[in-house]
Amino acid sequence: MSPKISHPNLVVPHSKALRGLFTKLRDVNTNCQDFTFYAKRAMRILAEEAIAELPSKEKTINTPIGPYNGVDIEVEKVCAVSIIRSGDALLESVRECLPSVAVGKILIQRNEASKEKEPIFYYSKMPPGVEDMHILLCDPMLATGGSAKAAIDCMIEKYNIKKDRIIFANIITCPEGLQAMAESYPEVKIVTACIDEGLNEDKYIVPGLGDYGDRFFNTM
Ligand code: URA
Repeated sequence: MSPKISHPNLVVPHSKALRGLFTKLRDVNTNCQDFTFYAKRAMRILAEEAIAELPSKEKTINTPIGPYNGVDIEVEKVCAVSIIRSGDALLESVRECLPSVAVGKILIQRNEASKEKEPIFYYSKMPPGVEDMHILLCDPMLATGGSAKAAIDCMIEKYNIKKDRIIFANIITCPEGLQAMAESYPEVKIVTACIDEGLNEDKYIVPGLGDYGDRFFNTM
């Protein structure tokens, strides 16, 4: 039986392209160079899907042949925030799509010595005026939700960012992570490419792809 997923603000884009890319990414035999290559392709698709969730207005333009009813996405007051280090990989895909986007960084690390692997906050830096911006929060793996919740706590408490202006982009999540986010921050929109089965006892996503940062940055 598939696990019950409950999150009030969840977007799972349907993309045939992503399934092929995930087959490469998840494969234990994919080496670091290939992992990075396929991850960049997958994250570019995810970045576009997350950007599409920013506020937008209907807009009609003219093609050389006639009118087209399209949409104008508000990308002017946007800050892309990465949770270091895996988030940096996704952040770069967002910056390829929006080269002038403002950038924020948050460093939170899991306490590897403890069984619960609770998050520890170390550092943050945001651009001036971030309290008036829409946020694209980047972290490829939403596992327990501990790091994401600590990052959102920091953005709200230290920088006065509004919860309903945060879009959290990740490529793989699981019911535990979605549940944790729904309990603490239901206003935060989550854009994810895959919802996996759950967590193992080491808090890795199953089947997942292993440690995203280690595979992307070749620190295995
Ligand atoms: N972070 C990862 O990189 N992988 C997981 O499975 C969970 C968290």
